[in-house]
Amino acid sequence: MISDIVDWLSCPHCATALIVEESSGVRLLCEEGHAFDVARPGYVSLLAGGGVPGTADTAEMVAERAAFLGAGHYDGIADLIADLAADAADGAADDDSCVLDLGAGTGYYLARVLDRVDRPGIALDVSKHAARLAAKAHPRIGAVVADAWAGLPVRGRAASVLLNVFAPRNPREMRRVLRPSGRAIVVVPEPDHLRELIAEYGLMAVDDRKPQRLREQFADRFEVESEHPCKTVLSLSADEVSRLIGMGPNAWHERAEEVRSGGAATVSVRAYVLSPR
Ligand SMILES: C[S@@+](CC[C@H](N)C(=O)[O-])C[C@H]1O[C@@H](n2cnc3c(N)ncnc32)[C@H](O)[C@@H]1O
Ligand SMILES: [Zn+2]
Repeated sequence: MISDIVDWLSCPHCATALIVEESSGVRLLCEEGHAFDVARPGYVSLLAGGGVPGTADTAEMVAERAAFLGAGHYDGIADLIADLAADAADGAADDDSCVLDLGAGTGYYLARVLDRVDRPGIALDVSKHAARLAAKAHPRIGAVVADAWAGLPVRGRAASVLLNVFAPRNPREMRRVLRPSGRAIVVVPEPDHLRELIAEYGLMAVDDRKPQRLREQFADRFEVESEHPCKTVLSLSADEVSRLIGMGPNAWHERAEEVRSGGAATVSVRAYVLSPR
C-alpha cells in the first residue's frame, strides 16, 4: 500500500517529503503543497511533467506479461532474484529501508522478493497499466508511476535492495537511492535469449556487446560483485509464444498475430549483483 512506502518517496517538483492525506479521496502532499492523487487501485503518479516516454508498456502488453508470468514460465528467474535479494538484505542488516524495483512491470519479481524480505517495496514504472497491477501484487508493495530516466521521486539512500529486471537503467539515480551497504540486482537478457523466436519471427535480437556495455554503464558508480547466468529451454504452445512476443517491446507486437505453432524457446538471462563504489 502507498502508506507503506510514503516515507521513502519525495516530491517530483521540489524533492521535499510526502505525507498521506485522506479526505474525500487519498492523496500525497509535500511540504510545499504539491498534491498527488492516489488512484483507486492504489498507485500514485509522481511524473514530474513532460509526458510519458514512448517506452511505457501498453495495457495489452501488461496483460500479456501478467498472463505469461502467471503461468510460471519465468519462475526460475524469480527464484534466482529472490535468493540474491534475500542475501543482499541480510548483508545490509538495515531494517529501516525499502526494496525498490525500477521498471517493475506487473510487480511479479518484487512480490517474490518481498515474500523473502520483510520490508516495504516500491514498484516504480512509467506505465500506469503496469502500476495498477503492481499495486495488487503484494500487500507491502506501493506502486508509483515515474520515469526511471528522470530524477527519481525517491529519497536518497532509501533502498537496501534495488531491482532492475529487463528495464531501463539509470546508474546515477540508482546510486543515489541505494544505501552504501545495499546491493543492486540487475537482470538483462543474454545474446541467445529467445533465439528461436528471433530466427523465426525476425524479432529484435540482443546485442552481443550488451554484457560489456552494461559493465561500462555502471563502472563509475558500481562494482560487479557477482554474476549469475540463468538458462532454460521452454516448450511453449502457440498461444504462449504469442503472449511472450506480445509482452515485449512495441516493435514485436504485430508479430504476435503471425504465430501459428508452438515450439522451443531458450530463456537466457544474467543477473548481476552490484555494490556501490
Ligand atoms: C520488459 S518490461 C519488464 C517489466 C518487469 N521488470 C518484468 O520483468 O516483468 C519493461 C518495463 O519498463 C517500463 N519502462 C519503460 N520505460 C520506462 C521508464 N523510462 N521509466 C520507468 N519504467 C519504464 C515499461 O513500462 C515496462 O513495464
Ligand atoms: Zn513539492
